[in-house]
Amino acid sequence: MNRRAFLNWGTAGLVALCAGVGVSLGAVLRFLVPSVFYEPPQSLKIGNPADFPFGAPTFLADEKIFVFRDRDKGFAVASAVCTHLGCTVGYLQSDQRFHCPCHGSVFGANGAVQHGPAPRALNWFEVTLTRDGQLRVDKDKVVPSNYRLMV
Ligand code: FES
Repeated sequence: MNRRAFLNWGTAGLVALCAGVGVSLGAVLRFLVPSVFYEPPQSLKIGNPADFPFGAPTFLADEKIFVFRDRDKGFAVASAVCTHLGCTVGYLQSDQRFHCPCHGSVFGANGAVQHGPAPRALNWFEVTLTRDGQLRVDKDKVVPSNYRLMV
């Protein structure tokens, strides 16, 4: 092997070494920066109080919540997510109970389990009034089923 061939092999080896180190550093950096999946905001404005009728609850499908408005008791917001495996429950105004279509759980008007397999009651979320007069629901703040916002 002459000197020129030796230098060519040495250069190729050096390039391969640098490429290997670069790939390894990239892998280390990728490991240090985790893949993060951001959840949608858990605190959301749902509209003006006047947008919600008295009586039967308003179902907001995107938020998976029921908004109850009672002339005497005010506003209450219930989760529509079944506590068994997370299906979306429906509310039957005729018997004033929540029914899960997946495995048959039934929840009373206050969200308590009346028929399993759901292991616990539906969640109720804090609802407040913002400065600009809109209702805000905070799904991170679970409240007792008798919590009400009077407007
Ligand atoms: S997900 Fe509701 S009963 Fe199973």
